[in-house]
Amino acid sequence: MFFDIHCHILYGIDDGPDNPSGMFEMIKTAYFYGVRKIIVTPHHNPMLFKYSPETESKVFSELLDYSAVRFPDLKIYKGNEIFAYTRFPGAVAENMPVFMAGKNIALVEFLPDSDFRFIHELVITLRSMGVVPLIAHIERYGKLSGKNISEIKKLGAVISMNSSFYLKKGLLKKRKYYRLLKKNLIDIITSDAHRAEDYRIFYDCYNFLVKKSGRNKADMLFYQNAYNLFETSDLNSAEPYDAK
Ligand SMILES: [Fe+2]
Repeated sequence: MFFDIHCHILYGIDDGPDNPSGMFEMIKTAYFYGVRKIIVTPHHNPMLFKYSPETESKVFSELLDYSAVRFPDLKIYKGNEIFAYTRFPGAVAENMPVFMAGKNIALVEFLPDSDFRFIHELVITLRSMGVVPLIAHIERYGKLSGKNISEIKKLGAVISMNSSFYLKKGLLKKRKYYRLLKKNLIDIITSDAHRAEDYRIFYDCYNFLVKKSGRNKADMLFYQNAYNLFETSDLNSAEPYDAK
């Protein structure tokens, strides 16, 4: 059973599916591969996509209606993936409905060449606002070392990595990802699915990690840590969150 906290399933919002059938195909495929909890996270990036909370709510309701009868045991939440161009994401500051599953958790992404200083300051800003920064696809930020990631985790950031990491080319890159996993610097593996077939990669990555690191560790990364974060933790606390 999987808990996917990052995907682009809502249609007509961003670079996910264009129409309802694409959205239904994605949720069907996610369910087929074992997803039982999911947070849909359209891009909040006003530079690239027009932001309309009303449209997001409408399409989200369509998704709930479709799924309720077909997949009654699938729990679906709403979130967003916030693009942080500055150290102070306006969407969070203005209290827009961009938080994850109604919690004080913000899924954030940056430009790939962002450096540690930028990300470190952003994490501090969000923590000072009582928000838990959930970092999207950490594997994209080539300037971050394991030590850097450990530092932002200590400040309360939660770290996610896309399941497609295991398909990436380059021995050095791969070694880095495995080292991060081994040192428990990754909390959650996400699909970041934009198309139905991305759930096959998510599923294959789980099986790959079961072989490489054991079922217990794979289950922590694909379900339990997300469950702990979204369904059991007290996020009113200002203490750094520790997924372990
Ligand atoms: Fe994404």
